Amino acid sequence: MRKADLTIFSFIVFCSTLFPQSLIAQTKAIDDEGHQWWQHAVFYEIYPRSFADSNNDGIGDLPGITSKLDYLRWLGVDAIWISPMFPSPQVDFGYDVSDYENVDPQYGTLQDMDRLIAEGRQQNIRIILDLVVNHTSDKHPWFIESRSSRTNPKRDWYIWRDGKGPGQPPNNWISDFGGSAWQFDPKTNQWYYHYFYVEQPDLNWRNPAVEKAIFDVSRWWYKRGVAGFRLDAVDTLFEDPNLKDNPVTPGKLSKYGDPVDERIYNKKLPEVHAALQRLRAVADEYNAVLIGETWTDDINELKQYYGEHGNELHMPMDFMFAKVDRLSPSEFRRQIAAVDGAGGWPIFVFSNHDIRRVYNRYGDGQHNDQIAKLMASLYLTLRGTPIMYYGEEIGMENNDPKRKEDVKDPAGRRSWPEDKGRDGERTPMQWSPAENAGFSKAIPWNPVDPRYKQYNVETEKKDPNSILNYYQRLLTLRHNNRVLLDGKYVALNESDPNVLAYLRSYKGQNVLVVLNMSGSAQTVKLDLRGQQVSGTTVKTLLASYEAPPTSKTKEMAVPAFGAYIGEIR
Ligand code: GLC
Ligand code: CA
Repeated sequence: MRKADLTIFSFIVFCSTLFPQSLIAQTKAIDDEGHQWWQHAVFYEIYPRSFADSNNDGIGDLPGITSKLDYLRWLGVDAIWISPMFPSPQVDFGYDVSDYENVDPQYGTLQDMDRLIAEGRQQNIRIILDLVVNHTSDKHPWFIESRSSRTNPKRDWYIWRDGKGPGQPPNNWISDFGGSAWQFDPKTNQWYYHYFYVEQPDLNWRNPAVEKAIFDVSRWWYKRGVAGFRLDAVDTLFEDPNLKDNPVTPGKLSKYGDPVDERIYNKKLPEVHAALQRLRAVADEYNAVLIGETWTDDINELKQYYGEHGNELHMPMDFMFAKVDRLSPSEFRRQIAAVDGAGGWPIFVFSNHDIRRVYNRYGDGQHNDQIAKLMASLYLTLRGTPIMYYGEEIGMENNDPKRKEDVKDPAGRRSWPEDKGRDGERTPMQWSPAENAGFSKAIPWNPVDPRYKQYNVETEKKDPNSILNYYQRLLTLRHNNRVLLDGKYVALNESDPNVLAYLRSYKGQNVLVVLNMSGSAQTVKLDLRGQQVSGTTVKTLLASYEAPPTSKTKEMAVPAFGAYIGEIR
């Protein structure tokens, strides 16, 4: 090393002893336009129970995730969001937390988490955790104290009320997983509120001590090197203090057999925003990113979650795509335009541990592999940050339980057979054609998709036309192409019922995306009038079929379910 280099080197070493590396990397905008790391990152959700089992007990774990960082780096993942891995009775598979500052022994130890963070840093993969703070587990020491007596100092950490009369809950609120949202506790003769399962009592966010405790939890993890959080169920943090009854639609029943109510008094209360803004201020101390599980119904709601001054969530998720279950260019066009115009940095989610997999929702049963590539080409070329769900990249599909007695998700047992619950989208990751798809040597906690011999990482890596290799090429292109990273979104041919086409446009450069969402070949004549595009030739960057190296914008042939990405010259 030259002397000058050596000085710089020692300076960097010095700095990194002062500030953990993650903080230095995060404070720095990654380009001259001020983009932050999370705006150019590809996120990947891992359901820890189902990703990789290192100790062969049939349950995935943190060392399992660490052992797959090489794979994730190869694929092109920059950050992983790990669904809850905190100690938990696992009634809701981790979304019932009994200790926020530890790791469930099923998944490993705190040291395993530290190792994952450290090795992730080496691979340039950041770790995001799941902050579940609408509720805790009923086994959390806070709740155990709270329920012990009416005068316990933690009594007011949860929502306790008298019933309307003997055996009658305080009001008509209904749990999201069925039944009354109130549970009677004979010990103190009061009812506690739980928006989700009985075992998930809601925290009382009107109590400043609760807010402080949760903010401290977030700090505790930031200090350990976590780069941010996905915030669970934030819509339901606050309830109307007067507990007004929700309006009910007469004559209708939910999939759980409950009245269908409009949750105006226990969802999306304005107080949510002030609390999230304060949580954001804490995140800003550590340059951490906040992603919200925000089930917004329209763009106005989405805008509110960004905060009027961009001071709330970096990326509130908009689940409108998750509600579109068919290949509809017009529907996608509408949703993209809305999210793109909301003023914040978009985030795109197509499936997760609560939503049926893309392969099933959009597949027609015959061209599912092509459709998987088509959908990848959509959500990985939009302006914004994509969150992949583990296994989408190999074409995993839902493997739903066949019999009620096999259902693990309690909600699925309750709504059986109308809704089979969420087990199907939570099956073990398929690593190889070996037994149990290489996930574990023991019988996995949730059965593997029977198609695993064909759909797995090892087999697909060897096949240049696999879904996996397509994802890998697409992610490489995305990372290296400034237009795809930052270019603005411009809709094209808006009346085409079969083909979704758009430009990404950046400083005079244009990348074209053409997605044939129909089962027949289409000839696309691009209407570029009014766009600042001078070229008429498109150079192929990537296609899901054998496309010619160049084509003319006035006539492009795209096969059934074909996806095309090119640069206009
Ligand atoms: C969120 C989670 C879901 C969980 C619920 C209750 O919606 O994504 O899996 O059941 O919160 O915590
Ligand atoms: Ca294990």
